[in-house]
Amino acid sequence: MQLTDLTEIAGWVLVGGASARALFSAVAFAGRRWRAARLDREYITLFDELADKALKKFDGERQRLQQAWSGRRKFRIVQRTYENQRKDICSFYLTPYDNQPLPPFHPGQFLTFHLKVPGQPQPVVRCYSLSDSPTERRYYRITVKRLWAPANAPQGTPPGLASSYVHDRLQVGDVVEALAPSGAFCLDLKSQRPVVMVAGGVGLTPLVSMLNALVATRSRREIWFFYGVRNRTEHAMYDHLDRIRRAFPNVRLVVAYSRPTPTCRKGIDYDIEGHVGVTLMKPLLAARSCEFYVCGPSAMMDGITKDLAAAGVPPEDIKLEAFGAAAVKATSKRSAAPAADAGQTFRVEFARSGRVVQWTKSDGTLLELAEAHGVKARCGCRAGVCGTCQAGLRQGEVDYIQRPAREPGAAQCLPCITQPRSDVVLDI
Ligand SMILES: Cc1cc2nc3c(=O)[nH]c(=O)nc-3n(C[C@H](O)[C@H](O)[C@H](O)COP(=O)(O)OP(=O)(O)OC[C@H]3O[C@@H](n4cnc5c(N)ncnc54)[C@H](O)[C@@H]3O)c2cc1C
Ligand code: FES
Repeated sequence: MQLTDLTEIAGWVLVGGASARALFSAVAFAGRRWRAARLDREYITLFDELADKALKKFDGERQRLQQAWSGRRKFRIVQRTYENQRKDICSFYLTPYDNQPLPPFHPGQFLTFHLKVPGQPQPVVRCYSLSDSPTERRYYRITVKRLWAPANAPQGTPPGLASSYVHDRLQVGDVVEALAPSGAFCLDLKSQRPVVMVAGGVGLTPLVSMLNALVATRSRREIWFFYGVRNRTEHAMYDHLDRIRRAFPNVRLVVAYSRPTPTCRKGIDYDIEGHVGVTLMKPLLAARSCEFYVCGPSAMMDGITKDLAAAGVPPEDIKLEAFGAAAVKATSKRSAAPAADAGQTFRVEFARSGRVVQWTKSDGTLLELAEAHGVKARCGCRAGVCGTCQAGLRQGEVDYIQRPAREPGAAQCLPCITQPRSDVVLDI
């Protein structure tokens, strides 16, 4: 055999060896990928089972414990934390005074507080949404915005009674009283449909509870969170939302600043300039069947609901939460019950107070009528959700200008969201 033959053979051996090694590496790589994919599949199945079990356990506990607390319950404030640069939004962490377990709640629900505000003859009743995930079992959290007198209000208009008290007076160690979680603005944790949350200002609180619940249960749903505020100084829970945006690829956060200042960074602090509107959601509307949860100022909620309806979203897929008087007043002016003409008057008797007055459409709700005539009427949310104003309807009929969160009992009504349809006699 000649030297060139030997060189050729050696060359072939080397090429063969290299090819075999390449083939071996490719097979090993493919094997590793296949094993990794199998482990991923097993992990995902296991995780889904665990998440499902956790949800079932959580639901079971909710059913069992929700009955356990009726009337007011005492809570101790264990932490307070400002949530924005302006320091007008503050979170309060509450633990039960009796050290008994905390009942789970549905993300989106609220607590109704009876606050002992100095100078007030009776406890001031106000609702505050629970703002953290119900899977967080160590505390309840609420997040309260301090309300100043509206810019267009007459000189001397007082700031918000309860929110000022909560911000100025309530400190760590103080005790407050609240009714059990309630409200129908709840996220369906078992659904797998894409979920779109739309928050305006402090209306983010129940939606953050929903968002936290979704990420805490490692939901793989497509999740959109639209948040509208004026600028960076009002932007609440900035770091928390940013962390979620970066950690969970299925969560898309869209922040709109309506009045950005020169120091607000587009693309970092916020995504778009302007208001949150349905135009931002167009791609979602065309392609998928989403569930919408909206909470914010009345103008924003009105606009979004109308535009979603116009885009063909069925009403049962749009859930709304109103934060009280402002929203209700706006609604009552706009959509007074059809039975009442502008010039029509009804006789309203507040039986317990012994007052008889006339109602016309411009008087607004029966609660507003009572207040305007100095009739003392209990109220809390002024939005038909807390039930505090519930009163006996001895005679006559009323129209609801807004759907109540819970139907009042027989021969009862919620004056904060009703107008008379005939002469009425109320147990107030
Ligand atoms: C279901 C639900 C959930 C809620 N969740 C939250 C939440 O998570 N966070 C939150 O911050 N809020 C929430 N709210 C709103 C909250 O319950 C209170 O309505 C809010 O804190 C304002 O209460 P206040 O006592 O401070 O203001 P109020 O004393 O009721 O006053 C409201 C506004 O009216 C102005 N005002 C007072 N008197 C007059 C007058 N004579 N003329 C004109 N204007 C006047 C005040 O300056 C103030 O701006 C929620 C409400 C509901 C119904
Ligand atoms: S005040 Fe809450 S339901 Fe009327």
